[in-house]
Amino acid sequence: MKSILCTSLLILLMPSAYAASLPGDSAEGKRLLNAHCMECHQTDIFTRKDRKVQSLDALKEQLVSCSHAAKVEFSASEMQDLLKYLNDQFYHFQ
Ligand code: HEC
Repeated sequence: MKSILCTSLLILLMPSAYAASLPGDSAEGKRLLNAHCMECHQTDIFTRKDRKVQSLDALKEQLVSCSHAAKVEFSASEMQDLLKYLNDQFYHFQ
């Protein structure tokens, strides 16, 4: 009985443990995205079937080039917030 309880507890806790794997503030990332990034595309570009970004590194690179395209200078921590939001919400890379 105890081991069943432990296992189900572990499964329950897993998503939050996973979500905590990237540093940053997801809510702030969402705010930044809505404020600066919806000019050229909507969030559906992140979930389109043939989406371009296939790894966390590629996502970082895309963020750098898109922030240039958006003409904003994000601080390192703002970049981290954006990365966390995009990964938690849409990409789910490990
Ligand atoms: C000046 C226009 C423009 C702005 C502003 C812009 N983007 Fe983009 N973004 C693009 C284009 C164009 C593509 C598609 C590139 C392609 O398909 O090769 C893209 C693609 C992306 C992708 C990859 C989608 C995929 O296929 O996986 C991500 C992630 C992304 N943008 C994030 C952002 C973020 C975050 C911001 C705000 C900092 C932003 N973009 C602002 C033009 C823009």
